[in-house]
Amino acid sequence: MNENEIRELIRKDKTHLWHPFTQQKLWEESQPLMIVAGEGCYLIGADGRRYFDGVSSLWCNVHGHRRKEIDDAIRAQLGKIAHSTLLGLASDVSAEFAAELVRVAPAGLTRVFYSDSGSTAVEIALKMAYQFHQQNGASQRRKFIAFENAYHGDTVGSVSVGGIDLFHKVYRDLLFEKVTASSPHFYRAAKVDESQEEFSKRAVREFAQIFDLHADECAAVIIEPLMQGAAGMIAHPPGFLRAVRDLTSEREVFLIVDEVATGFGRTGKMFACEYEGVSPDMMCVAKGITGGYLPLAATLTTEAIYEGFKGELADLRTFFHGHTYTGNALASAAGLASLRIFEADETLAHVKVLMETLARSLPRLLEHENVGDIRRVGLMTGIELVKDKRTKEPFEYERAIAAEVCMKARSHGVVIRNLGNVIVLMPPLGSSVSEIANLVDTVKDSIREVL
Ligand SMILES: Cc1ncc(COP(=O)(O)O)c(C=O)c1O
Repeated sequence: MNENEIRELIRKDKTHLWHPFTQQKLWEESQPLMIVAGEGCYLIGADGRRYFDGVSSLWCNVHGHRRKEIDDAIRAQLGKIAHSTLLGLASDVSAEFAAELVRVAPAGLTRVFYSDSGSTAVEIALKMAYQFHQQNGASQRRKFIAFENAYHGDTVGSVSVGGIDLFHKVYRDLLFEKVTASSPHFYRAAKVDESQEEFSKRAVREFAQIFDLHADECAAVIIEPLMQGAAGMIAHPPGFLRAVRDLTSEREVFLIVDEVATGFGRTGKMFACEYEGVSPDMMCVAKGITGGYLPLAATLTTEAIYEGFKGELADLRTFFHGHTYTGNALASAAGLASLRIFEADETLAHVKVLMETLARSLPRLLEHENVGDIRRVGLMTGIELVKDKRTKEPFEYERAIAAEVCMKARSHGVVIRNLGNVIVLMPPLGSSVSEIANLVDTVKDSIREVL
């Protein structure tokens, strides 16, 4: 593409587009990177430059771009049909994919309700939990317990269970009430001299206290398992998820696990729940479900919950929810192909190797005086920059220091994105060891160049 063509595309973008989570004033003043193609773990700009996709195109790409098996599966599906509705009709490929999802999901999740984004998968879980109790003899169960710093999406229901003031506060009057439990954030919430183990016990105790107060009126607890992603990669202490599961089971409160970010191998297991042997009552998945190709999501649930919606028409127990593209055939075909690659490539075994590379190389970043903390579960990594390492004083939001580091990394051929003062690394599962090593080196150099 020549310079005039690129300039014209950028003009169209700046004149007509409104980008997500973006201050458009700054965008309009910036020189956007226009992506026109991809290959493997690289994005290709309009000027032909290649950039390592260090955040997996917002946490969804799995095996790399233009992966032949997924491309072929979508093409083959196009030769049959792109989409037909699941309202009143079945679809071969979406039925096949539902069966495969159940096969790889934690035990006990046997039913798949499709939608098209992480937010809708969460919205569905909330409505399902609520309605189930309304029509199964527990109509007092109307509350949800969610966590401080939680992020479950941007629709009004999923924002209601969100806990990031920066994103959510302005909508307060639109949201339903919830009970907020503390976020077990060791770096920010541990007391002076408190060990990981002591902190972990205290976190469980504090959750148990608040849970106990509300359990009898609670429809469900919703949690991002092991890692609160959008809050800036807050890793929960080991055993926390297990404890939440045990408490919710004891009091017959549903546990909704939001695996939108953590699912499909990102943490080193197919689903993060597996680390703690947890089977939730509902699991929300999206992002990596199609290998990062097409918008598809699913809310998986148990046979017991499914049964709670069955009845005669006159009983009005139907789950009155559905989206136009529910169970889209092209997306289901992509999802099936992606799951086949997990087996053919032994992707999870490969991720273990990448995790070792990260475990070896990341600690070196802590030598820098402004790197306060590094949190990682599998390939999900957050590097928190602080003004003062001793006091953990954060950089001012307006200074956008981590964003500056990310732009510096881009100039070195790596696309990454920050969340506040946290630099996020979320490479595709199909990255090579040398690509991961290069990613860490680039971030290290970029931090040094900016700070
Ligand atoms: C844990 C979690 N839940 C839900 C969502 C929302 O997903 P989507 O952007 O597809 O609506 C996200 C997105 O980052 C997420 O990280």
